[in-house]
Amino acid sequence: MIRITGFLLGILLFINCRNVPDPIPTGLVTEKAMVVSARVEASKIGSDILQKGGNAFDAMIATELALAVAYPYAGNIGGGGFMVYRKANGETGGLDYREKAPLAAHADMYLDSLGNVIPGKSTLGATAVGVPGTVAGVIAVHEKFGSLPLKEIMAPVIELAKKGVVVTEKQAIRLDNYRDIFMEVNSDTTFFATVYKTGDTIKYPALANTLQKISDQGKDGFYKGEVAEKLANFIQAKGGYLTIEDLEKYEAKWRSPITFNYKDLKIISMSPPSSGGFTINQIFKMMEPYDLSDYGHNSVKSIQLFTEAARRAYADRNYFLGDPDFVEIPLKELLSDQYLQERMQNFSFDKATKSSEVSHGEVHVVESDQTTHYSIVDSFGNAISATTTINGGYGSKLYSDELGFFLNNEMDDFSAKPGVPNMFGLVGAEANSITAEKRMLSSMTPTIVEKNGALWMVVGTPGGSTIITAVAQTILNCYEYNMSMQDAVNAPRFHHQWLPDAIIFEPEGFKPSLLTDLKSKGYIINEENTPVIGKVDAIKILPSGKLEAGADRRGDDTAVGY
Ligand code: GLY
Repeated sequence: MIRITGFLLGILLFINCRNVPDPIPTGLVTEKAMVVSARVEASKIGSDILQKGGNAFDAMIATELALAVAYPYAGNIGGGGFMVYRKANGETGGLDYREKAPLAAHADMYLDSLGNVIPGKSTLGATAVGVPGTVAGVIAVHEKFGSLPLKEIMAPVIELAKKGVVVTEKQAIRLDNYRDIFMEVNSDTTFFATVYKTGDTIKYPALANTLQKISDQGKDGFYKGEVAEKLANFIQAKGGYLTIEDLEKYEAKWRSPITFNYKDLKIISMSPPSSGGFTINQIFKMMEPYDLSDYGHNSVKSIQLFTEAARRAYADRNYFLGDPDFVEIPLKELLSDQYLQERMQNFSFDKATKSSEVSHGEVHVVESDQTTHYSIVDSFGNAISATTTINGGYGSKLYSDELGFFLNNEMDDFSAKPGVPNMFGLVGAEANSITAEKRMLSSMTPTIVEKNGALWMVVGTPGGSTIITAVAQTILNCYEYNMSMQDAVNAPRFHHQWLPDAIIFEPEGFKPSLLTDLKSKGYIINEENTPVIGKVDAIKILPSGKLEAGADRRGDDTAVGY
């Protein structure tokens, strides 16, 4: 049992402040500015905006929209996201452009007459679609912080849609895997019914037209008039709930991020309705009294400590969190040092805590890398961390051929029935139940880290419920294990989320003897499910002031800068 007084904790924190020489960079290093995203086309468009004098916010708009063209798997204008920023003067903030439930939504909309969840209704096709927030998000960013005209920022994105994007090997495999379901949800003649091979170029004329309307009319180009009418009519014709009124009423919201200290780091991450900032705050604070670096990277002890902190944090996440505009969240209490120390009192390195002793349930984790993240630092010192999603791969699979984009299936991130897991195996509670106009709980964790008061890292990832643990492990890899940014991103990852009570490990990088040791201490290891965990895109500011990229080798992710 560990009970630490404030004084002792202070001493531990002092001892734990790390002051070791910086590692040699292994990722792309640039002098002034950088964009790291899931596709080279999007990183290049964002970086070009920076190079022609735009700021990180201008580049955010360009990168977000370019991902909607180049990476339809997760990039979008039919979904939503979260952005955390840190301006050069140290001011921080967050933007919530999360989807919300349509006006017609209600708590039991995905239940049958016996009160059971109807399979597929919250994940596939028009019934799964929440009100998209991405366009409202980028326009809100432009209104508050943009320095270049919207038309100038969007011109290269529209050009990309017209000119087309070359299919990568990974993309060709994905399109092949999903083709049948695209045709099932849409029709045999839908845009993505075509077979595309590696090296082919896909042109997006319908999407270029929609983007042109946004470029000409701003937010109204999407949420009012022709595009809104076509979108609402299309979704309703397919049996969905979204109306013109839903689109007209949508607003992105500026929110204060979650900010906390871990040793000599200050970590700034997204607040509810994302659970990301809250959950990494709990995980880091539960681990803070221990000397992780002494245990060694991905050692038995470090995996135990991380797992036990994550187990407890996800239990709280799933019970307490929801849209703060609809539910009271006792954030102050749940994030207090005293509460978090008490949560770890029953942790011992001798044996695993059972999740059933923290709470109960039995579910399965599904592989999930469908969201996408990008990180930006400009030459003025502004930083952007943004994560955006249509939830599942290609969202609900519903594709508007007329408007040129996929619609999200974000309604599945609500708890359709408290106690029943969603597609990520997350077991939700009443706080995240469905209500008209409420935002569904997210795990997206766009994060910015300061070290000794200066900008140090911009980081985030896709990965559904595994987003939070992947972001936390990447920060720890740099801070506790002194890895370069690229090595920290490359390093193998593991995940535990309270329920199911099992650790999942990436397919490579963990020795069988390590798994045997963990099992001997009572840890349950899911050896059938060894997914890729996250695709982290990050930037670290080196002591010289140069920038080092961490572009995830697990995807087509690429850093571009100058
Ligand atoms: N749709 C994944 C998330 O928001 O966490």
